[in-house]
Amino acid sequence: MKIGSVSEDKKFEKRIAITPEIAKKYINLGFEIILAENYGSHLGFQDNHFEEYGAKIIKDEAGLIKNSNIILQLGLLSDEKISYLKENQALIGIFDTHKNKKKLENLSKKKVNIFSLELLPRTTRAQSMDILSSQANLAGYKAVIESFAKFEKAIPMMMTAAGTVPAAKVLVVGAGVAGLQAIATAKRMGAIVFATDVRMASKEQVESLGAKFLVVEGSENLETKGGYAKEASEDFKTKQEELLTETLKKIDIVICTALIPGKKAPLIIKDKMIDIMQPGSVIYDLAALQGGNSAYTKVNEIVEKNGIKILGDSNILNKLPTSASTLYAKNLYNFVVNLYDKKNDKININLEDEIIKATLVK
Ligand code: NAI
Repeated sequence: MKIGSVSEDKKFEKRIAITPEIAKKYINLGFEIILAENYGSHLGFQDNHFEEYGAKIIKDEAGLIKNSNIILQLGLLSDEKISYLKENQALIGIFDTHKNKKKLENLSKKKVNIFSLELLPRTTRAQSMDILSSQANLAGYKAVIESFAKFEKAIPMMMTAAGTVPAAKVLVVGAGVAGLQAIATAKRMGAIVFATDVRMASKEQVESLGAKFLVVEGSENLETKGGYAKEASEDFKTKQEELLTETLKKIDIVICTALIPGKKAPLIIKDKMIDIMQPGSVIYDLAALQGGNSAYTKVNEIVEKNGIKILGDSNILNKLPTSASTLYAKNLYNFVVNLYDKKNDKININLEDEIIKATLVK
């Protein structure tokens, strides 16, 4: 069985699907690994690094795709590269199934087996493959680092002979995986942290990290059976706005992470709320690409409004691609091991397995 991976468009995607350490693990399992030339050199993983572990590096990307049984990527391949795919091959990555519906349907008709890992169920068994968690965790951390770097005051309280600098106050909106890591990172750096979420289950998690949970008065728990957020009612939104407007007067940095699966991100920090924030404050909007949780957010730009900076990247993981690739490649490895029938040396699309069933795009 051959596993191949070609280079992504590095302007938009710096992560890779196979690191040298993971190439070695696949080879130890009996797979052949074929990679495009300079596959990981932008991350310091030179071709000879991979070759030392037994991977093959080849120039001809079309041949690489045609000859692989399993192709591991981040995003969907270009139209030209897609045309080389054929029956019974498996293509695994994060393919944004809403956006790429037509292309994926066409591949499915050609009997290419496509697995899109953002569709993984959030179950205990799927945890080691959970790309949403591994990447959101890093995104939460990096959002704090990015916003602190733009904040022109100190973060921890500092008591000196010349006087005291107060600790910065951080508000984290949305306490899922990214939000909880943002809270932990901001706490470690000495900030005073507040957080809010529509799911009451997150209250205990927020408090266990030493942050204060802001409860929207009289709110019901807006959680689906799968553990995701439901869209909030108008009444909830009004109460949340009142609570956050009061809180924002004393907040220096806001980290926005609120998302509702399959929907545009909710607008939570409105323009009139930003008007009352102190100059010098920073908002980092991790939901920027999904429409933004904050007013004025522009993807990949720093917007300034009355001395307040509002930031949001299209792909914050490009700012720590080595760590993100290390975790992503390991998630993929665990997924492939679950898919692989070693005895018969083939992939086994067992639809009784909820992980395989949920991720297979039809
Ligand atoms: P997400 O990335 O979909 O959303 C981020 C957070 O924003 C969520 O906590 C959500 O409740 C919150 N949110 C949405 N609308 C909001 C609003 N209007 N105001 C404030 N907050 C708002 O969430 P993520 O991190 O993907 O987690 C989703 C669920 O999956 C959680 O219940 C989490 O515990 C669960 N999970 C389970 C795992 C497992 O392996 N068992 C692994 C990772 C997550």
